[in-house]
Amino acid sequence: MSVKASLLSELLLQKRAWVPGGRNGEWMHRELYELIKGEILEGSLSGGSRLPPSRVLGQELGVSRNTVLYAFDQLLAEGYVTATVGRGTFVADVPLRPARHPSLDPAAPFGELPASSSPTLSARGTQLLARRGASDRQWGAFAAGVPDVSLFPRKVWLRLLNRHWRRPSSETLSYSTVGGHPALRRALAEHLHLARSVRCEPEQIVITSGIHQAIDVVSRLLGDPGDRAWMEDPGYWGTRSVLASNGIEVVPVPVDCHGMAPSEQQFHGPAPRFIFTTPSHQYPLGMSMSVPRRLMLIDYAQRTGCWIVEDDYDSEFRFEGRPLASLQGLDSHERVIYMGTFSKTLFPGLRTGYMVLPKSIAVCATQALSELYREGQLVQQAALADFMAEGHYAAHIRRVRHLYAKRYALLRQAITRHLGPNWPVASQDAGLHLVLLLPDELDDVRISNEVRAQQILARPLSHYYQSPEKARRGLLLGYACVPEDLIDQGVQVIARAIGTAHSPR
Ligand SMILES: Cc1ncc(COP(=O)(O)O)c(C=O)c1O
Repeated sequence: MSVKASLLSELLLQKRAWVPGGRNGEWMHRELYELIKGEILEGSLSGGSRLPPSRVLGQELGVSRNTVLYAFDQLLAEGYVTATVGRGTFVADVPLRPARHPSLDPAAPFGELPASSSPTLSARGTQLLARRGASDRQWGAFAAGVPDVSLFPRKVWLRLLNRHWRRPSSETLSYSTVGGHPALRRALAEHLHLARSVRCEPEQIVITSGIHQAIDVVSRLLGDPGDRAWMEDPGYWGTRSVLASNGIEVVPVPVDCHGMAPSEQQFHGPAPRFIFTTPSHQYPLGMSMSVPRRLMLIDYAQRTGCWIVEDDYDSEFRFEGRPLASLQGLDSHERVIYMGTFSKTLFPGLRTGYMVLPKSIAVCATQALSELYREGQLVQQAALADFMAEGHYAAHIRRVRHLYAKRYALLRQAITRHLGPNWPVASQDAGLHLVLLLPDELDDVRISNEVRAQQILARPLSHYYQSPEKARRGLLLGYACVPEDLIDQGVQVIARAIGTAHSPR
């Protein structure tokens, strides 16, 4: 049987529209090869059928004959097709791919599972990407949670890096097997003790490539697929993504003005394996967890044997008064795992974070990290240790805190100017972003899309909820990386979009 060129090209064009990044532009040989292979493996092109001549298929697809020839050659080399001179190219008999999973639709709205089928992704991979939260824009007004990376003291950093690159020991150029550079763990233990009242020995600290990796290691080391984790709702999409892709069921827990607030039913039901929380500065709404609530959670963890994971991502930035001490510092039962990051205090691309573990599991976490990731970066860690020990870290934080406070004040003023003095805002004079709350009848996703078309990033609050029916409407506005002269203009764009929004979701 011969496959008609027009039918095949229609099928391929349809499939192409579902492939991420493959919707527009010129066909790549590789792309065509992947799509035809997918059709063969899924049985749409059955064994023995004859593929259209390369010239004809090329014309139907609007690509050069060479593109088709390359794809056919690759299929031939891998045994998906056979070719006989003078007769043509035939689909080989190959075992079909078993299960079909929902596909990745790059255009599907956040949090929705797409409807069609993907030739390549696992069910877990499909789920992960369908609920993806990472923005493709990480800079500019009003990117949330992004520090002003242009302020990082590059000269000092370069000097310290040079110092350690000049004569690196063999150890620093090898894999790290002890949970990170000892000098960095010492510097962190001291800093965390002074700044966050964290109680730990350097040996309890494990350096990671950020909080994401720390969550990954902890959820694999201490949790099994099917275990449950309580997580604040709204909460950080990244935590949800890492947990879910490790098979941990994420149970949404509401928040109130005292922070995470498990319901009576949750308290009296079966205990989870983990409680993930952001007590210093709830993400994204900003409240601090009250002391009674902290003590209650610690007591609950001790009684039930679950782990509290404290995500202390941005507590260095409080503009009024001192931040509340860490939850870890209140825990005398070894139930809290504390996590922190340099992504907010220095720059996200540094990809360096840390976790502070109870003594009983610190060595296991170090070993798990080695097993999974074979970590290194010891030269960079040595430079970072000096950066902290010589006072550059504290000085940098002081400097940017002052600047962020100024930008925060300007943002508040602009909101007052363009939306009125009583417009509700969720913020505690802290962190790198605030939440501009919207009335329930306004569609925050639509407003977010509208202002994005004008180069303003304002992520919709409703995306941060796991339970859509409970989602409040709002916009996350990061101010730390926004030059002062752009703040007012940006808010004006948002105010205009709010003004013209005629709600329905
Ligand atoms: C609440 C929260 N936790 C963790 C992270 C990520 O930390 P890291 O860059 O160290 O993986 C972020 C980043 O935005 C965050 O907002």
